[in-house]
Amino acid sequence: MCGIVGYKGKNEACDILIEALKRLEYRGYDSAGIALWNEGRIAIERKKGKVDDLKKIVYNNDSFKGKMGLAHTRWATHGTPSERNAHPHKADDVVVVHNGIIENYIELKTKLKDEGHKFLSDTDTEVIPHLITNHLRKGMNFIDAVRATLKELKGSYALGIIKETEKTLIAAKKESPLIVGVGEGEYFIASDVPAIINRTNRFIFLEDNDVAIFKDGTLLLINVDGKEVQRKVHEVYWTEAMAEKGGYKHFMLKEIFEQPRAISDTLIGRIKEEKGLVEFEELKLPDISKMKKIWMIACGTSYHACIIGKHMFEANLRIPVETDIASEFRYRDPILGKNDMLILVSQSGETADTIAAMKEGKKRGAYTLSVCNVLGSTLAREADGVIFTHAGPEIGVASTKAFTTQISVLFMLMLHIGKKLGKMQSDEIRNSIGEIKKIPHKIQTILDMSNVIEELARKYMGFKDFLYLGRGINYPTVQEGALKLKEISYIHAEAYAAGEMKHGPIALIDENLPVVFVSPNDHTYKKTCGNMEEVITRRGRILLFTDDNSHEMASRVDNLFILPKTIYELQPILSVVPLQLLAYYIANFLGTDVDQPRNLAKSVTVE
Ligand code: G6P
Repeated sequence: MCGIVGYKGKNEACDILIEALKRLEYRGYDSAGIALWNEGRIAIERKKGKVDDLKKIVYNNDSFKGKMGLAHTRWATHGTPSERNAHPHKADDVVVVHNGIIENYIELKTKLKDEGHKFLSDTDTEVIPHLITNHLRKGMNFIDAVRATLKELKGSYALGIIKETEKTLIAAKKESPLIVGVGEGEYFIASDVPAIINRTNRFIFLEDNDVAIFKDGTLLLINVDGKEVQRKVHEVYWTEAMAEKGGYKHFMLKEIFEQPRAISDTLIGRIKEEKGLVEFEELKLPDISKMKKIWMIACGTSYHACIIGKHMFEANLRIPVETDIASEFRYRDPILGKNDMLILVSQSGETADTIAAMKEGKKRGAYTLSVCNVLGSTLAREADGVIFTHAGPEIGVASTKAFTTQISVLFMLMLHIGKKLGKMQSDEIRNSIGEIKKIPHKIQTILDMSNVIEELARKYMGFKDFLYLGRGINYPTVQEGALKLKEISYIHAEAYAAGEMKHGPIALIDENLPVVFVSPNDHTYKKTCGNMEEVITRRGRILLFTDDNSHEMASRVDNLFILPKTIYELQPILSVVPLQLLAYYIANFLGTDVDQPRNLAKSVTVE
C-alpha cells in the first residue's frame, strides 16, 4: 500500500513533505522516511513506526534542508517493518521511494548480486535504484536510465526518484496511484489528493506508464518509450478543511458526523423530484434493455454496500444481481458476457482486487461501471462509466461516510435504471426521491443521540465477543457493524443472518455474549423477534436497534435504540449509523488507534 510524496519548488521541502506524509499515514504506518536534496547532497532519515517519530528527528535539524525531496510511509509487504526496510532506498547516489510491488524482484536481485551489487534491505524496492545505477554506469543519462529500468520491472509502482548530481525529480506510475499537484512555481507528487490539498487544488492524474520529469521549474510528461504525452490539469473541489479533523478527536468520528452533509452532496444535481427522475451527468449507460444480469463487486465495507444494492435492485427491477468479493470473483472464472453489467464499488478507486475484477469484466465484454469517491482514481478513469459519491475525503481507515454515500448512489442508480426500463413509474420514483431526501435529517436525529450510544459502549466495552444478527437488507448492515467493531476495537465480532443463528452460533450464547440485533419493523421483523426470544431463553444479552417500540420484545431486551422510520431500501443507511458509533466509542474507551488500527490500511493496492 504505502504512501509517497515528493516536492520540487521554491520553498523548503521538509515541512511540506512531513505534513503531506502525515495525511498519507492512513495508507500504512509501519515506517516512515524522507530524503532531501541540497546542493548536490541528499540527506536521508528513516524510522520504524509513525511519521511523528521521523518528524522529531528531522525538524529543526540543519541537515534536512533543501527545496527538493521525497518521503514515504510504509505498509510492509516484502520485508518486516524495520528501519532497514524503510524507504527511501539508495544505491550509489540514486534515491527512490516506491508504492507497489515489483513481482520479478527476486530474479532481478539475484542478477544484480551476481554483478556485485550489495543490498541492505529485504524489500522488492531496493532493486530499482540498483538497476538505475547499472544503466548510469553504462553512460546513459538520468532520464534514460530510469526509463530503461522501468522496462525491466514487472508489477506495480508509483515512484519518486532523485539523484545527488541532478537537480531533477522523476516520478513514474504503473498500476499504483500517483498524482501531480501543480502549484505556483512548484510541483508536488503524492499518492492521493488530500495529501497536498492544502497546497494546491490543481492536479494531473498520471496514467500507467507515464513518467513525469520536474526540472528547472517545468514539468515534462513522457511515456516509458520517451514520447511526450499530454495530460489535463483538473481542478478539485475538495478543501483543506475537509482533510482535517475540525475539532473532532478522530477522523472517524468526524466522518460519522459528516454523513448528513455527505449524502446531501451526493444527491445534489441528480434527483429531480418534480419530474420523478434521477440523472447522472457523467453517465451514459449502454442499451440496458438487453441487460441479463448485474454484478456488484467490491472489497470490505464497499462489498457490504453491494449486498444492500442487490436487495434493492432485485426487489424493484426484477433483474438478477450477483454480488461477489473482488478477490474471489477475479479467480473463479465467472460466467459473464456482453449483456452483463459489472458495478465496481470502491471508496478509493484503487483497491487492487476491485481493479482486477473490472479488467476481467472488460475482457469478457461486460459493461463496467464504477462507483467511486476519489476523482482521477484508477477505477474512475478506467471503467466504462463512473458515478462519484461526493463524500469528500475519507481519512479514517474504517470506512463510514463512504458506505452510506455508496448506498445512496446505488439507490439512485436503481431509480435511474428502473425508469429507463419502465420498471418504475414516475410517481414511485418521486416517492422514493422524497424518502432519500429525508435521510440526512434522519441521520442527524441519530447523531443527536450519540451520548446514548456512548453510554452503551461504556457498558459493553469489557466484553470479548459480540454476535451481530439481522435479516434481509439488514444482514449486510450487521456485517458492516461487526466489521467496524473488529477493525478498530480488536474485539471479536461475528455477523450472521438471524435465521442461521440456530445452525451454529446459538451454541455460543450465554450471558457473556452480547447480541446486537438490527431489526426494523419490515416483513422479517416477527421472525427476528423469534430469534430474540431464543437468545433471551439462553440468558444472552440483547442490544436491539429497531424503528418499532410497540412490539412486546422491545420491553424485554437489555438495551433498546429506536431508529427513525424509512422505506425498506434505505433502512441500512439509518441502522448502520448507531453501529458505527458503538464501534467508535468502544474503541475510544479502549484507547486503540481509531484512525489507524493495527495491521490495516485504507487503500489496499496489493493483492
Ligand atoms: C480496506 C479499508 C476498508 C475498505 C476496503 C475497500 O480494507 O480498510 O475500509 O472498505 O479496503 O476499499 P475501497 O477503497 O475499495 O472501498
